[in-house]
Amino acid sequence: MIGVLPLIKAFIFDLDGVITDTADLHFEAWRKCAEKLGLTIDLSFNEQLKGVDRMGSLNRILDYGGIANQYSMEEKQRLAEEKNEYYKKLILDVSPKDILPGIQPLLVEMKRDGYKIGLASASKNAPTLLKSLEIDEFFEAKADPSTIAKGKPAPDIFLQAASILKVQPTECIGIEDANAGIEAIKKAGMFAVGIGDAEYLKEADYLVYSTVELTLENMLKAWHSR
Ligand code: BG6
Ligand code: MG
Repeated sequence: MIGVLPLIKAFIFDLDGVITDTADLHFEAWRKCAEKLGLTIDLSFNEQLKGVDRMGSLNRILDYGGIANQYSMEEKQRLAEEKNEYYKKLILDVSPKDILPGIQPLLVEMKRDGYKIGLASASKNAPTLLKSLEIDEFFEAKADPSTIAKGKPAPDIFLQAASILKVQPTECIGIEDANAGIEAIKKAGMFAVGIGDAEYLKEADYLVYSTVELTLENMLKAWHSR
């Protein structure tokens, strides 16, 4: 039997660093948290935190400082909560002006052309941000990170979004700015679009430097010529 070639039916977005520039705000919050612990983290180290869930990020910071065994689970929970409180203050005045260039018209174009749109963000703050950005209604499916046992780079969160959208992974294009996220998309069996630096996103199937270059046409062309 001749197999039926898949067609792209859905786009699944990461949020922080793809839809809005909150990747910088997460970094700012972690930098402050690390400072309190006597540690200095820089932007290059932050690449390892992108896409990684809250407790996973804290563990990486503590490992980096060689102080992981100095904190009980309870203390770590308190530190993670403190980081989140600080982060929540930083996102208080997020509004539609904070949507990264090109993303809003891209969502409109995808909807117009009948593509399904999903969200696969590791952030528990993502639903609040989508509302503040006033683009919540574009997303037919939002994977819930609190129900996902294994965060990025595991594929689970992208697979959950695809399953809610009722599409096969091979019918999806995933969009990410984090190395862990690209790995998750590829493991899910989806086509991976990276936004950012080739130095960190080597595994992406198609890479653009910024959201300005992220067009529906370019992504579909790249997928066709894969
Ligand atoms: C990801 C970010 O989207 O969400 C990470 O890239 C962040 O930096 C993670 O740690 C979890 O976010 P939150 O808002 O649940 O702490
Ligand atoms: Mg991201």
